[in-house]
Amino acid sequence: MRKKGILITGAAGEIGDSLIRALTSQGEDQIVTLDLKPLPKENEGLSTHIQGDLMDQALLARLVSEYEIGTIYHLAALLSTRAEFTPEMAHQVNVEGTLNLLRLASDQSQWRGEPVLFMFPSSIAAYGMPNLEIKAQYPRVREWEWNYPTTMYGCNKLYCEMLGVYYSQYYRQLAVDRPVTLDFRALRFPGLISAFTVPSGGTSDYGPEMLHAAAKGVPYEAFVRPDTCIPFMAMPDAVTALLKLAKAPASALSRRVYNVTSFSLTAAEFKDMVLRYFPNAQISFRPDLKRQRIVDSWPAGLNDNDARRDWGWKPDYDLERAFAEYLVPNIRKRYQ
Ligand SMILES: NC(=O)c1ccc[n+]([C@@H]2O[C@H](COP(=O)([O-])OP(=O)(O)OC[C@H]3O[C@@H](n4cnc5c(N)ncnc54)[C@H](O)[C@@H]3O)[C@@H](O)[C@H]2O)c1
Repeated sequence: MRKKGILITGAAGEIGDSLIRALTSQGEDQIVTLDLKPLPKENEGLSTHIQGDLMDQALLARLVSEYEIGTIYHLAALLSTRAEFTPEMAHQVNVEGTLNLLRLASDQSQWRGEPVLFMFPSSIAAYGMPNLEIKAQYPRVREWEWNYPTTMYGCNKLYCEMLGVYYSQYYRQLAVDRPVTLDFRALRFPGLISAFTVPSGGTSDYGPEMLHAAAKGVPYEAFVRPDTCIPFMAMPDAVTALLKLAKAPASALSRRVYNVTSFSLTAAEFKDMVLRYFPNAQISFRPDLKRQRIVDSWPAGLNDNDARRDWGWKPDYDLERAFAEYLVPNIRKRYQ
């Protein structure tokens, strides 16, 4: 008999760090995690961890020979800035890696006779605003608007969303005996800010980096202009969104890819918030034109009405609460 389990890929990363703890506190004890890296010390023992590569087909085959996977949180990816340095490698990990897992989930759905739930964190990088005027005209983009990504990462995310829909709804649609298909659900996240981990390789990192630098008492140069505006969300809300969408009855969902967001603010406003709590923080702006171009192509805000209506999405942390109750106290503790 195979053991039942939830699979989290990319579990050693920022979202994985919080997701493992949230799932464990809900009583989930059969979690299998996969990452190139070991789990951070605090999370050791919360899951059966496999240190390995998502691209390793033999490893995935071994995994399903041992576990009956009912839910997959597929977090492993190369993030936006990193992906621009090695675009073809990013394509391999972000697209082919996702395809490997979608295939695995399809096979598993077939074996089980019921759909495997496949949770996928997509991103505002799936959007591409052509210029700042249009960005200002569309302050809250809908899921189907401006799907013209300008980065390899954004292209990868948008295409993987489509692959997920394909494997859920159309896979082998001409076959006489259509297999049981998987249940793909995706969230387009804004920039996420965690109090417990420092981001790396993303292009929304200037927000969290400002805050962590201020708490450490080191100067920080933001790589964007002060007027740069994108949406953000506190990490606990990102985990809540993943868990809530995972639990929603399929009949309530009118789409497979949902925007979710919490607050939008400019880099200058972010700095002001940081200064409110760390008045001695030394934050300056030195835009890196290439990274700036990427952030400018991302929308200033997301319309998440469908998520609110279909499965009751609502962030717990608005801007004030995120700083006052989650970010600042935990980050202070971390660097004390
Ligand atoms: N953090 C954000 O602001 C944000 C926003 C939107 C979407 N997302 C998405 O959420 C997911 C998780 O993001 P994160 O912030 O935790 O990223 P992260 O970079 O902190 O974690 C990604 C993890 O994936 C692992 N990984 C990469 N390639 C792998 C491979 N070939 N095999 C196995 N593991 C591999 C890395 O070792 C890393 O631990 C990603 O898909 C990301 O695109 C993140």
